[in-house]
Amino acid sequence: MKEINLEQKEFWNEKKGKIWVSLGPRIDDMFGPLGDEALRVLAPKKGENVLDVGCGTATTSFKLAGLLGEKGSVTGMDISKPILECAKQKAKENSIKNIEFVLADAQNHYFMADSYDAIFSRFGLMFFDDPVAAFSNLLKGLKSRGRLTFVCWADRSANDWIEVSTNIATKFLELPPKAAPRDPGPFAFEDPLYLNEVLSNAGCNKILIENYSATNVVGKNTKEAAEFLSRMGPMSLPFEDSEVSVQRKVIDSLEKCFADYVTIRGVEMKFSTWMVTAYKA
Ligand SMILES: C[S@@+](CC[C@H](N)C(=O)[O-])C[C@H]1O[C@@H](n2cnc3c(N)ncnc32)[C@H](O)[C@@H]1O
Repeated sequence: MKEINLEQKEFWNEKKGKIWVSLGPRIDDMFGPLGDEALRVLAPKKGENVLDVGCGTATTSFKLAGLLGEKGSVTGMDISKPILECAKQKAKENSIKNIEFVLADAQNHYFMADSYDAIFSRFGLMFFDDPVAAFSNLLKGLKSRGRLTFVCWADRSANDWIEVSTNIATKFLELPPKAAPRDPGPFAFEDPLYLNEVLSNAGCNKILIENYSATNVVGKNTKEAAEFLSRMGPMSLPFEDSEVSVQRKVIDSLEKCFADYVTIRGVEMKFSTWMVTAYKA
């Protein structure tokens, strides 16, 4: 089989995978309301079989397992071994039975035809080097007229949580060059026309892409927010690899900047996403 998505495989299996696992609860606080909105749009029914792509540590897979009931089932799929190990451990600890995990690349995994009533993802579908091939492949596993519902990031400049913190970090850290539009990465689908074209070329119909924006808490206070966001987005690996004195400067500057975002709930920043629904023809 042709090797694909090599950079992303390395990224999510090496240091980033470990950082992601260690930040699990904080990521869930931040992504929680966005994932919950995507689950509301999906409207899972008892007894359905659902695939959760790029499931990560499986918070949404566990929610789905509960919503689908014991006659339904969830398959969590991810390319990262350390992240999936964490998901499996949580399923074991919580004795969740109607769930299975598959370590695989969703772009070329062999799906049995008509396996799923629906495919879902919370920020796990933007990392393919050939998105049309990936969505076409996913559709193979979906039943006829089955639905695909996912949330992905919209316009990067409308996402303060990453834009503001990256602008600060760039003063102290050498960050990777900004990804070109459409390159695999968190903002691959920020252009909704391109996203629509990808889904349509992959064979989806009745495509609906709606903006969902919110302000979410990224930390109870500026210190917590700075320590969290310094380990998210493009600064996470350069921050991890930098000297303690540099890390201190980054944290101090982030804390100062985040003072402008303090509300009664904590540090609140803007998030802008696409809530996407499409069907297999
Ligand atoms: C931003 S994280 C989101 C994780 C999880 N859905 C959540 O909301 O916490 C993206 C996830 O997609 C996974 N991923 C990236 N490319 C993938 C691919 N081609 N096939 C399957 N999973 C992939 C990564 O390993 C990572 O766990």
